Amino acid sequence: MKQVSLKLINVSKVFKDFKGNEVRAVDNVSFDVQPGEFVTLLGPSGCGKTTTLRMIAGFEKPTDGMILINNVNVVEIPPWKRDTAMVFQSYGLFPHMNVAENIAYGLKMRKVPPSDIEKKVKNILKVVGLEGYGDRPPSSLSGGQQQRVALARALVVEPSVLLFDEPLSNLDVLLREQMRIEIKRIQKEVGITAIYVTHDRTEALTLSDKIVLMKGGKIEQIGSPEEIYEKPVSKFAAEFMGKINFFPVEIVERLEDRTVIKLNGQVYTIPSLPTSKSEKYVLGCRPEGLKIASKGPVKGVIKTIVYLGNFSEYYIDTEFGEVMVKVLPPFDTTLSEGKEVHIDIVPEIAKIIQE
Ligand SMILES: Nc1ncnc2c1ncn2[C@@H]1O[C@H](COP(=O)(O)OP(=O)(O)O)[C@@H](O)[C@H]1O
Ligand SMILES: [Mg+2]
Repeated sequence: MKQVSLKLINVSKVFKDFKGNEVRAVDNVSFDVQPGEFVTLLGPSGCGKTTTLRMIAGFEKPTDGMILINNVNVVEIPPWKRDTAMVFQSYGLFPHMNVAENIAYGLKMRKVPPSDIEKKVKNILKVVGLEGYGDRPPSSLSGGQQQRVALARALVVEPSVLLFDEPLSNLDVLLREQMRIEIKRIQKEVGITAIYVTHDRTEALTLSDKIVLMKGGKIEQIGSPEEIYEKPVSKFAAEFMGKINFFPVEIVERLEDRTVIKLNGQVYTIPSLPTSKSEKYVLGCRPEGLKIASKGPVKGVIKTIVYLGNFSEYYIDTEFGEVMVKVLPPFDTTLSEGKEVHIDIVPEIAKIIQE
């Protein structure tokens, strides 16, 4: 498998909407993808993910900027000469062809000799776990199996870059979890460079070597799943990656690798550093970064307890609004709805976030 790098440099796309107004769908976006890397474009609906992907594939031409595949600017190259392949949300299989014919289609178009086609199809069916399914009609397969065929069809032409646009959105939860792991396994096995578009943070966290978080056509943050989850550069990034509680914070002292802060008068040293110097900050605590205690800087009343088996969520009314605390078993049975409690932070995983 060829391994290529991909680079977007100051890429923008301006559309005209139905009234003739300009929409800046993608706004000065730059990022790098290393050979064999799995990069996810993550963000809310309408933030420009699909447009970015379509520009990489060549279905849209950037208004500005460069897209380099192996250091060659491809913006003038038509999609069929770009050596990319896309997997869509709707599988897009041909219903009148069987599985093997569906997969072979791209190879036929490329005039690959029939004996090679047969070999390649057989091999790729094995890779996606569908050995022996070649002569079945797609309609006889489950959603997950059809998505595997779509993946096989994209992979079999040995593209340099594999592009995914929300490929798992049509599958039910269990299947989605299974396919997530499958996609990652297959991508690593074939070693292909991949760009994956999703609005689902769990998908992004599970699959990606690197996440490009987008908001309103712009890049909000680029980093590994850990970096973005643990060191969000903004409230938006922090909230998009998962439930988080915010508290007003006073910065007492910045040390080299940690910060002394005050929350409601109580002093803590936390290992996180503010991301810039002059801005306003809040303290960000994930539900797992808080504990219910007999003492603590935040007082509240338990409003709702949601039992989820291996943990419980406690929703607590406080002077800073509703706070959610994740509690692991063994559960304290004296904590019931309506009870007054204190909340303390786990300083090791608290974060100072730019407001
Ligand atoms: N062909 C188009 N013409 C006009 N506006 C478009 C077109 N395609 C996308 N847009 C607009 O560009 C923005 C980004 O869209 P899109 O890239 O599809 O976002 P996402 O995939 O993140 O949901 C949206 O505001 C969308 O309405
Ligand atoms: Mg989209």
